[in-house]
Amino acid sequence: MLFIGIDLGTSACKLLLVGENGTIQNEVTREYPLIFPHPGWSEQRPEDWWNAVVAGVPELLRGFDASQVVGIGAGGQMHGLVALDAQDSVIRPAILWNDGRTFKEVDYLNNTIGKERLSALTANIAFAGFTAPKLLWMRENELENFKKIAKIMLPKDYIAYKMTGVHSCDYSDASGMLLMDVKNKCWSKEMMEICDVKEEQLPKLYESFEVTGNLTESAAAELGLTTNCKIAAGAGDNAAAAVGTGTVGDGGCNISLGTSGTIFISSKEFGVDKFNALHSFAHADGNYHLMGCMLSAASCNKWWMDEIIGTKDYPAEQKPITDDKLGENNVYYLPYLMGERSPHNNPDARALFIGMSMDTTRADMTQAVLEGVAFAIRDSFEVARDLGINITETKICGGGAKSPLWRKIVANVLNIKVNIIESEEGPGLGGAMLAAVACGEYASVEEAAAKIVKVIDSVEPDAALAEKYDKKYAKFKQIYPTVKDLYDTLKA
Ligand code: XUL
Repeated sequence: MLFIGIDLGTSACKLLLVGENGTIQNEVTREYPLIFPHPGWSEQRPEDWWNAVVAGVPELLRGFDASQVVGIGAGGQMHGLVALDAQDSVIRPAILWNDGRTFKEVDYLNNTIGKERLSALTANIAFAGFTAPKLLWMRENELENFKKIAKIMLPKDYIAYKMTGVHSCDYSDASGMLLMDVKNKCWSKEMMEICDVKEEQLPKLYESFEVTGNLTESAAAELGLTTNCKIAAGAGDNAAAAVGTGTVGDGGCNISLGTSGTIFISSKEFGVDKFNALHSFAHADGNYHLMGCMLSAASCNKWWMDEIIGTKDYPAEQKPITDDKLGENNVYYLPYLMGERSPHNNPDARALFIGMSMDTTRADMTQAVLEGVAFAIRDSFEVARDLGINITETKICGGGAKSPLWRKIVANVLNIKVNIIESEEGPGLGGAMLAAVACGEYASVEEAAAKIVKVIDSVEPDAALAEKYDKKYAKFKQIYPTVKDLYDTLKA
């Protein structure tokens, strides 16, 4: 038996072919364009996602027996608004999770409807990337398109729809739409009224590990698979990554250094923090989680390496950052290339370097980028700590987690142990695990995680270095409040 895990990311779609015991047999990555039609806006064509899957799956299966593939599950970039018309055609490009155009709508939701009301209805407040403010934006700015909407979906659900013909969504991903009552796991009637949508325009809700359908004949033919293949509802990429790193049940922590950066805390109990600084979402294991999300994490390093320095050799750039340099850097970097979500909730924030002098080197700047991302993760970590959540260790995944240097910086900036998993392919592996549970291979997501996920190494923080980073973090924390008012003036 084989399973396919799909990680529908922002820069690419990664496909994993996974055996019954969770071993990765093959992987294929297909990139697609990210469109920035305006500074701070971010879109993608859903058709590009599907074309990537259609091109990638046959390549993934080369040399394997396709009839052995019995299940597919996806972890997908969250919050993106995919709008379909009555013929199930895409109306406009999807507006993504890191799009900052909805500041007016967010202001209306948080201040006119009110944060307290939103929190009572959905367990969350409005953030620019969430789906509900995008619907209000569409009604205000693209009324013709808004009127055509027959179905609203999230990115991975569009792929699931293309495979099964069913309009589905799972609780973890739906939590980030601001249309779902997270505690009671159902659509909120009042939120639907506020956003001017009807329940029939929303997909049917499932647990992540439930089957939503089998491959249709046409999808099976396109993908080179059989109609026996079942599709699991899947999860938002962070919940799927948490499954893939075994962050399930109570009190687990996972840090993802992908395009976005997240800190994910699993819990068996539903909970909301007083200021809604962290997202309170359903988890793919059937429980709940709290999450802080920064909009640019590994993407800061990618931008710095690819666009500014002009290199693809990331390890070579990190090599001069030796142990004696850690905790000694006087250059600071704010990682807000696309604005910031947690905890500042400011789509107008932008990145900056500060503290350079004539002896600053390229390596100091690279180090500042890696440290700035770790400090920004600490911002959300501190919110969790203020809530009384005691985190002493974490798992780590995402492209950034491949760097031993970055892992060490994270361990020392947060002063916690960082556990490294055999595979850092969080969302893809998690998607395949959800498919395995959906197909009855495991009784629960927790059982699958216990049997599949292996910690192979860990980084312990060093007390002296953690203390140095504590002092550096105290300085980092002062930069954003100092420049905050300037962002409005600098707005493009
Ligand atoms: C989470 C979030 C991001 C995207 C990235 O709230 O917006 O992590 O899911 O893919």
